[in-house]
Amino acid sequence: MNSRLLEGKSAVITGAGSGVGRQAAFLFAQNGAKVTCADIREDWIEGTVSEIRSAGGEAQGALCDVTRRADVEGAVAKAVETYGRLDIIYNNAGIASPMTKEGGFKSFVEADDDDIDRLLAVNVKGVILGCQVAIAQFRAQGGGGVIVNTASVAGMIGWGGALYGATKGAVVNLARRLAFELGPENIRVNNVCPGTMVTNFGTGNGGNLPQAALDSMARLQPLGRIIEPSEPAQVALFLASDLAINITGVNVPVDGGVAAGK
Ligand SMILES: NC(=O)c1ccc[n+]([C@@H]2O[C@H](COP(=O)([O-])OP(=O)(O)OC[C@H]3O[C@@H](n4cnc5c(N)ncnc54)[C@H](O)[C@@H]3O)[C@@H](O)[C@H]2O)c1
Repeated sequence: MNSRLLEGKSAVITGAGSGVGRQAAFLFAQNGAKVTCADIREDWIEGTVSEIRSAGGEAQGALCDVTRRADVEGAVAKAVETYGRLDIIYNNAGIASPMTKEGGFKSFVEADDDDIDRLLAVNVKGVILGCQVAIAQFRAQGGGGVIVNTASVAGMIGWGGALYGATKGAVVNLARRLAFELGPENIRVNNVCPGTMVTNFGTGNGGNLPQAALDSMARLQPLGRIIEPSEPAQVALFLASDLAINITGVNVPVDGGVAAGK
């Protein structure tokens, strides 16, 4: 049996420049996938792609704003052009709740129209576009395919900001319904739902938080451990692989147990 779970598969990962997407790009490539790393940050894409290549993996970059249909189509077209097809899309790009000038999160009522539009555009429209464009490609290839999205524990229970949670709740339910609609075409749709991690997300500060802040973040979870971005990435790998061949429409929390208490 081949221990490389995605041998020969062509995968597009959005938000592959940082955090969960970057970790997923490494893991997918280590497992034999040819990875198209899509992100809005060109410098970050280059970092991910060059690290994968130096480790002997196959990857290319695609500059892509997931809120723009033409960009998402461009990323998928690049995967097809270079690697011949699309087997997997991992719609992972997302942004945090809007922030104040002082660096804290805005309360629900403080979010202005631009904040609301941007959050919905990246976290909801971006995932919808990724699904639509991938489904069109899967159908053009004759059917079959895998969609994984990054939602959040904030989309499963009342946790984190209400506005952010509303966007992730939309992603949670999107996978449930798409699973029914696409199952007969052998297209699986599942979500990874992380708890709070330290990445470049929101105030995350790319991992440069003081130990006291990390300790208090760890205490939010029953397991008492910081959630590392590689952990939801491992679940995305599982869901993208044939190990999950009969799994569709599920939301898998990687949250240290937070969702269990609600
Ligand atoms: N960090 C957390 O605490 C946390 C918790 C739960 C869920 N999530 C979700 O996990 C996913 C990954 O977040 P992360 O923590 O790795 O964050 P991150 O900020 O480290 O990485 C997100 C990546 O997405 C890219 N991106 C942002 N907007 C984009 C756009 N419009 N088009 C293309 N790329 C774009 C960024 O450039 C970045 O590379 C997101 O969907 C986020 O909502 C994060």
